[in-house]
Parts: sequence; structure tokens; C-alpha cells
Amino acid sequence: MKIKKIDAYEILDSRGTPTIAARVQLDNEIEEFGFVPSGASTGSKEAVEKRDGGKSFNGKGVKGVIDEADKNLFPQFLGMDVRDQLSIDRKIIELDATQNKAKFGANVTLALSLAVCKAAASAENKKLYLYINSLFKNFFNLNIQMKMPLPMMNILNGGAHANNGLDFQEFMVQPVGFSSFKEGLTCGVEVFNSLKNTLNKKGFSTAVGDEGGFAPEINSSEEALSLISEAISSSGYKVDKEVTFALDCASTEIFKDGNYIFSDNNKMSNKELIQYLISLKSSYPITSIEDGLDENDWQGWADLTNKMGKQTQLVGDDLFVTNKDIFQRGIQENVANSILIKINQIGTLTETIETIKLAKENNYTTVISHRSGETEDSFIADLAVGSGAGQIKTGAPSRSDRTSKYNRLLMIDAWENLEFLGRSELEQ
Ligand code: PGA
Ligand code: ZN
Repeated sequence: MKIKKIDAYEILDSRGTPTIAARVQLDNEIEEFGFVPSGASTGSKEAVEKRDGGKSFNGKGVKGVIDEADKNLFPQFLGMDVRDQLSIDRKIIELDATQNKAKFGANVTLALSLAVCKAAASAENKKLYLYINSLFKNFFNLNIQMKMPLPMMNILNGGAHANNGLDFQEFMVQPVGFSSFKEGLTCGVEVFNSLKNTLNKKGFSTAVGDEGGFAPEINSSEEALSLISEAISSSGYKVDKEVTFALDCASTEIFKDGNYIFSDNNKMSNKELIQYLISLKSSYPITSIEDGLDENDWQGWADLTNKMGKQTQLVGDDLFVTNKDIFQRGIQENVANSILIKINQIGTLTETIETIKLAKENNYTTVISHRSGETEDSFIADLAVGSGAGQIKTGAPSRSDRTSKYNRLLMIDAWENLEFLGRSELEQ
């Protein structure tokens, strides 16, 4: 169970940008890899993703980051018991000694932290989700009920993930009206395929954006929601009863000098944007809104939560960046009622678990999330099940960087008899 060797590789993410895979080898010859994703619309307070600069890959190479870890980070863990995730992650935090993993880079610390977790699961001969579940018990004395997550499927892409005129980044569907994961996922897949037909018929492109959703040349949220509604109806499902809408506005991206600026030059204050979101919700069954406002607009967020929080899941992504200290402020100020969990926003598995724990203690819903730049690795599927998170956001059912997570969940669903709560996941 002792760590014998650690090394890492410069590999590619789904956008062809370099990222890191770390390998942990044990005395007993077991080896496992940890893979790291990368965002495009990142929150400013996320842990640092370190890159080499220079000419290769337009400065985005990570070979130098790996060399530095080879010299000064990895050797520190040799001989440690791989099952001691907590001590290993604490040691990573200590050795890095910055607030935001700026010394070594969260891309290399997370690769190590995840490789450790996977190697320990293999060493114990446990499925990864079961092992993750046992971490909650062993290190935090929490008995977590595992369950299948309700998907949030990004079938129409805009914002920083596409080059159309859509200001909001993600138009998602949630299959809320089903009693099993498989039926829910099937509904999402059929709606996605039906949307392709709808777009085709209307002469729109069916090329896909970074998260596998379509990226047609449309420029209003109303048009996006109306196209999806049409696709749901023509696939034979019922809007609202079976499928609802979820938005990721990614509003930090459109916030400039105190206002929200839309591509048609329309300018909104936070009050006006809140009114706009309320009016969208009155026309379409929107059950979840992520990053409705800018990451620093705390006053606006309190106002938004006050006005919409009773009926709508309000998810903090750029706002909380999976950071328990920032999240704590949100809890105190009654801001949002849900948190997006992205492992690379914080840079170790233990800190991710601590943030999930804090959310559970304070009745915030949790949504485990991919990044727009992903790898084929499906760790977050196991994390969603093992942590009993309740929801997962991992793109459209298209491109293997997205389907690898859904496929893993389909298998877990077949192996275990886990509950799927559907709509009640949205109530905190
Ligand atoms: P990112 O966006 O991975 O490109 O940062 C995803 C999100 O905002 O949820
Ligand atoms: Zn987001």
C-alpha cells in the first residue's frame, strides 16, 4: 500500500490544449492515473492552473510544471500509505504553501491527488465510487447515502463555449420526471437527438460546441429555449412534467463596469437582469440557474436569492469556486442555494470533499461538474455517486469526453441498486 513512484505526463484535453496525467505506482505493482480538466470561463478566485509560457502550444505547455513537480513535489510522498488521502492532500497544501496552489499549480496537485485516490481504490480492490464513499466515512465520520445523480445536460452551447451570438453560456435540460437514472438519461439523449432534427429542419447548423451541445447561429435566450421546447415536444416528452430547463448564464463573462452587457449592446443593471431571469422563468419551466450574476456582485446575488431562491435552484460556480472559505461567506449572507463542484477549482480531493460536506450541512444542493476542456477520464461520475451529490453536469451526450461520464454512470446504475430522486433533488 506504500507509494513507490510518482511521475506525470503532458497529455491533451478535449480542446487540444495540454493538460496533466499523473501516475502513482505502489510497492505491489498497482498503478493508477489522475487526469485534470481545464475551464474556459474560469472564476477569478479558482486555484491556479500553471502553464509554461514560451512558444510551444502558445504558451500553454505544462512540461515545465511537471519538471518542477518531479523535483520538488512528487518525491515528498514516496513511502506514504496511499490510503491516507487526508494526510497526502494536507501535505500537498503545506508544501505548496499558497492560498491558491500558485507554487506548483492546481493542475499538477490535482493530478497527484486523484491518482492517489484511484491507486488506493485499486489496492483495496474496491470500485472507485465505493472507495470515495468510504473517504467520507473514514476521514469525516459521515455516512453518505449513495445515489444516482440527476443529470443537467448542456444541449445548446453559447458564451465562451461557442462562436454564436448567445450571451448565456449553457442551455441545459434536466430529466426530472423519471424514477430511474437510465430512463432520465434516455430522455435527455432523445431530446438532444430531437433538437438536432429541429435545428436541421430550420436550416441551422448542427455542429457542436465545447461541451457537445449544438451551437446554432441564434442570438437570444428566448429562441434557444423555444427551440428546445419544440425538440422536447416532438420527441414525445412533456415539458415541465418530465423535462425542465437549467441555465448557466456565466454572467461574470458579460459583466463590465457595473453592468451586464449583451451582444446586441443591451445593457442591464443587476436588478434588470434579475427581472429578466424572472420573466424567462415565467415563460419556461426553468428549475435551475447557475451564475445568474457576476462573481463579485454579492449584493445582487443576495437580491437574486431573495427573489428567486424559493422556487429556483441558484447555483454558485464562479461565485464559490469550490472554495470552502468563499462558500462560507455565501452561506452567511444567504446567497444562492446550490454549489457547483469542480475538482480543479480547488486542486485536491480532500478540499473538494470538505466543500461538499459544508454544502450538505447547510442544505445547499450540490452539482458535480466537468470543465469545458475535459479528458476521457470519468472520475467525476464516481465522485457524483460516492458523495451522494444528487446532480451531475457533464455536457451533452455527444463527444467521448462527455459520454465517458454518462457511460460510467450507466454501468454503476446497472451494478448497484441505487435510488434516483429526480425532481426532489432540486429541493434543498
Ligand atoms: P468552464 O465552464 O469549464 O469553461 O469554465 C463551465 C461552467 O461555467 O460551468
Ligand atoms: Zn458555470
